Amino acid sequence: MTAIPANLSGLDLRAEIERLRKERNAVILAHYYQRPELQDLADFVGDSLELSRKAAETDADVIAFCGVKFMAETAKILSPEKIVVLPDMEAGCSLEDSCPPEKFAAFRAAHPDHIALTYINCSTEVKALSDIIVTSSSAETILQQIPADQKIIFGPDRHLGGYLSRKFNREMLLWPGVCIVHEAFSETELLKLKAQHPDAPIAAHPECPPHIVNHADYVGSTSGILNYAKAMAGQTLIVATEPHIIHQMQLALPDKTFIGAPGADGNCNCNICPYMALNTMEKLYVALRDLEPRIEIDEQLRLDAKKSLDRMLDMASGTVGKGDLGNR
Ligand code: 13P
Ligand code: SF4
Repeated sequence: MTAIPANLSGLDLRAEIERLRKERNAVILAHYYQRPELQDLADFVGDSLELSRKAAETDADVIAFCGVKFMAETAKILSPEKIVVLPDMEAGCSLEDSCPPEKFAAFRAAHPDHIALTYINCSTEVKALSDIIVTSSSAETILQQIPADQKIIFGPDRHLGGYLSRKFNREMLLWPGVCIVHEAFSETELLKLKAQHPDAPIAAHPECPPHIVNHADYVGSTSGILNYAKAMAGQTLIVATEPHIIHQMQLALPDKTFIGAPGADGNCNCNICPYMALNTMEKLYVALRDLEPRIEIDEQLRLDAKKSLDRMLDMASGTVGKGDLGNR
């Protein structure tokens, strides 16, 4: 974990971050799973596809990425001339950890007639070994552009891959990775909650296992779930994804009620992403002040990884972070 100097106590962190944002010509990007105070001061809050697009488009000199490492690396791959800082360099992802590049390379080599369609939640090395990157917003649009007879490896999220495979009746070789956060939802507790709120629909992220997704009225990316909340007729929604997204829902829809789906102990704290939670106001301030910790990527590796990301951005054009996975 990034060390924080002890002498920050008397500082008005919000004001200091504002000052540094201007001085550095920095843009602050935040994912929906970030702490509310980070979402509130970000220039832009979004899902993985929207954040990638913002990182590619911005004319800022510095990108301060409030998210996890693969997201900040994506920003650096797409905007190499910019300084990209991540408040805590330990902010990883269980999906990335599940897919070491050497094992993925061996798996690919064992299936030379397959293309690799890879979820953005992976290392830069795995992106460089892949043909096309997808996010949960863009996966469906992109999969539908791949000829039906083309064999596909899908990694590293077996639940997103399995969901797409079932929905499109399309066989894919699935890498066995999971998101520890979405894996923690309990079907028993979800059904108890549903019994208490029978009229409330359930919206789930496709990183959830089938025993959760199968109960969902809507399945989609974080921005897809947010848009579903805005469009739904009812007043109450059960949300099966990382609960920090509820902050944006409450800001946009103060009169509606959002209930986080529970984990096995009936309490949804186990569904807070421990990696996303590493970023704090203090660490963001230090990152803007020192321009560290900074993302650096070997240039050849960056160019190799950029090919699969560029294909995603091309193939997903027209996809408006709306969670194209849509209704089950
Ligand atoms: P999206 O925001 O693209 O839905 O991704 C969710 C996620 O797991 C980020 O780590
Ligand atoms: Fe990774 Fe899951 Fe955390 Fe997203 S929520 S960063 S997929 S561990």
